[in-house]
Amino acid sequence: MTDITFPKDFLWGAATASYQVEGYPLADGAGISNWHHFCHQPGRISNDHNGDIGPAQYYLYKEDVQLMKWLGLKAYRFSISWSRIFPDGESKPNHKGMDYYNRLIDQLLTNGIHPWVTMFHWDLPQALEDKYGGWRSRDTVKAFGDYVAYVTSKISDRVGNYFTVNEITCFTVLGYGNGIFAPGLKLDKKTVNQTVHHGCLAHGIASQAIRANALRPVKIGLAENMKAVVPLIADDESIEAARKAFRWYSSSRLTPMHEAAYPEEWLEEQEFDAPDFTDDDMKIIATPNDFIGINIYNPTYVRADTSSSKGFAEVPLQEGHPCMNMPWLYVDPSITYWAPRLLNEIWGVNDVYITENGCAALDRLEHDGKVYDTGRLMYLRNHFIAASKAISEGWPLKGYFVWSLMDNFEWASGFDKRFGIIYVNYQTLKRTPKVSAEFYRKVILDNRVL
Ligand code: BGC
Repeated sequence: MTDITFPKDFLWGAATASYQVEGYPLADGAGISNWHHFCHQPGRISNDHNGDIGPAQYYLYKEDVQLMKWLGLKAYRFSISWSRIFPDGESKPNHKGMDYYNRLIDQLLTNGIHPWVTMFHWDLPQALEDKYGGWRSRDTVKAFGDYVAYVTSKISDRVGNYFTVNEITCFTVLGYGNGIFAPGLKLDKKTVNQTVHHGCLAHGIASQAIRANALRPVKIGLAENMKAVVPLIADDESIEAARKAFRWYSSSRLTPMHEAAYPEEWLEEQEFDAPDFTDDDMKIIATPNDFIGINIYNPTYVRADTSSSKGFAEVPLQEGHPCMNMPWLYVDPSITYWAPRLLNEIWGVNDVYITENGCAALDRLEHDGKVYDTGRLMYLRNHFIAASKAISEGWPLKGYFVWSLMDNFEWASGFDKRFGIIYVNYQTLKRTPKVSAEFYRKVILDNRVL
């Protein structure tokens, strides 16, 4: 077995999102976001938790940056809360909101950590939901472009890397389709497809807005949670089936972004529920990316199937398949190998970052002050090994952001699920690096896994 190492410039990072870690969502003149609004409706979130305080990174960011420095992180991926910058989503900017992110960025840079900024990680100004119907409307896409342009003009002297949006299906399908996320609606399929289309359009518009307003050369992509397809058996037929499946499952997002069109067969399958779109929309959606960020947690297995017009069949996960402490978090580390490879093979993508990977675990603070999160340690170690294999074979994986830097508000699950490599006591706000953080630190320091 050869050494499991990483290239010198491999970007080791950690990720969070504004509503999940900042707390104090209304501080300093910020407006109400859709998630704030949603969480304050009884029964929406497990135990009626909300992000009002959370880990309070809004006030404790300096301490958190010191922890990042101790970890040896090269980059921190965080998101900007739109309603802190434009309390009503558009019109008048709130300078105090911008000041917070400027302070955070400066603190990171002073400590040698690159800020990687996500422009939208699900917290939409509630005013845009009320006024336009949120992502149902093109007006929200337009407002997003304006907000992104403004933020870029304020931070691009120091920030070089941007994600436009995070996980389009989560803020559209889960928000407007099955209602488990904000705004909590259960609408018809055509409307939901339209929100997804607007999510893609928002990505394209934001890319153009960032490029047009950047004060120096920047790199832009998105953070996408396509299905992490794994060929059931790594024979030629399964691998070809995996390529077909990956492209097919991405029909409404990554495929049009790379091919400037929705696949014909996909449009036919949607019938009258297909989204409305113009030729110009498709050109905007296909605005070239500098990189693709992928949030990958769990596998989707496929095999070749000549009886299907799609050329593949999905193989359901069987009862007893290893699963972490989240109902959907089934494990197969080979996703970190296959996703960069398939992206390269299908569309020639040359820069891939794993922008989220990690797991929830039943973490407990022990009497000796430690959190022995052996499950997470096992999960991370094996994903790193598969990542190193991908790189050693020449697939274009350039960096890895663990989800998450610290325990945080896990959306509909509230604080019940802990994804951090740093433990947060929500009563005292004390941070304690878990054993997985010690492990990650060692991996970064040595740039290898032993
Ligand atoms: C999201 C994160 C979330 C994580 C774990 C991703 O879908 O981007 O915000 O906390 O998965 O569920």
